[in-house]
Amino acid sequence: MKILIVDDESISRKILVRHMEALGECVAMDNSRKALAEFEVAVEQGHPFDFVSLDVSMPGMDGQQMLAQIRKQEAARKISRADRVKVIMVSSRMNMATIKACIKLGCNGYLSKPVSKYQLWEAMGKMGFDIAVPQKESEESSYPGMITEIIQRFYKGKISLPVFPHIVKEIQECLEGDSPSMEDLARIVEKDIVISSKLISIANSPLYKGIDTVNSLNAALLRLGMKATQGVISAVAARNMFASKNKSLKRVLENLWMHSFAVACLGKRLGEALKVEHTENIFLMGIVHDIGKMLLMKAIVDLFPEESVEETELQQAIHEIHTTFGAALLKKMRFSNEFIPVAEFHHWNAYPKDTAPELLIINLADHLSCEIGFGFTEVESQSPSSIKQLGLDPDLILEICGQVKSMLKESARAF
Ligand SMILES: [Fe+2]
Ligand SMILES: [Fe+2]
Repeated sequence: MKILIVDDESISRKILVRHMEALGECVAMDNSRKALAEFEVAVEQGHPFDFVSLDVSMPGMDGQQMLAQIRKQEAARKISRADRVKVIMVSSRMNMATIKACIKLGCNGYLSKPVSKYQLWEAMGKMGFDIAVPQKESEESSYPGMITEIIQRFYKGKISLPVFPHIVKEIQECLEGDSPSMEDLARIVEKDIVISSKLISIANSPLYKGIDTVNSLNAALLRLGMKATQGVISAVAARNMFASKNKSLKRVLENLWMHSFAVACLGKRLGEALKVEHTENIFLMGIVHDIGKMLLMKAIVDLFPEESVEETELQQAIHEIHTTFGAALLKKMRFSNEFIPVAEFHHWNAYPKDTAPELLIINLADHLSCEIGFGFTEVESQSPSSIKQLGLDPDLILEICGQVKSMLKESARAF
């Protein structure tokens, strides 16, 4: 059997290849246009693909558009319905409207990420492939099963959401009010001694450091500015969410925190270099971009305490769903609108022309965090298209990487 796997995410491709390599020759591609060309060549050479797995959400030509193209070509070649290639749609956001649209376009099946081998083989069996469907895994032994269970609980409101301390809300209300002043802000912050002293350390950390050392809350607030103070306090609050009493989870969350902090610092510096407005939002975006991973791991440890979150296959399954889940989570936590696409699309490998610079910056910062030794999951090795789209000079990127790398650990201690 010849199998074509089209997904822009490297981990998703890897998982699908792992599930299907025993069934035949797998060709896995990240670019839908190139994959469509590959599909056509195979038909013309008389060795067509028997099965295609298509990711719904891809930059450029998405899964639905590619499916439409495949069916259009088959119709033009007068290929009978029975002889058409079998296509399964895979997505981390399968709602009824998407499923209906895919059926209308002529897919043969659809699966939600993370996909288990059992689900995939069972779906292929139903399409008429002669394969021995493996035994159904019990929920406890299947990582995709565990994650699906958590997501269902989340949508039913049965997973407790991370809670920000009250001060975060107070500051937000203050800044959204009529002509907020530094004095108003100081009055709120000074009530919290821990946050006040952290703000002073952060103002003196290499991330914000000026010429002199600041010793008072007022001086720290002045150095940070009102908007930055809001972002920094939210980041301090978010820091506490990366804690756990479970040993294995604690280790992983500590790595995830350092990764998120690296993305935040790189994002901030990139934003400054590009003179993007609201770089302080970018800092907080970096802190929360992988929040979906954090909550999924915590929920797994709560619900399946015998599991180790350090397992590679579990991490891969979490990675597959963390963007959609993170976006849903930020929405529920009432983060402002510009945060949602950052959580949802930060792993794309190409972006439309009108993409917000914050999203491009976090995508790039996520890549660069790996290069300075603070990656969390493997990313595509090729340099991201966001560099070109942002119009960044590679030398400047190198300089920013060097700066952030040298000050990262010291700055992280202040949070
Ligand atoms: Fe991510
Ligand atoms: Fe990340």
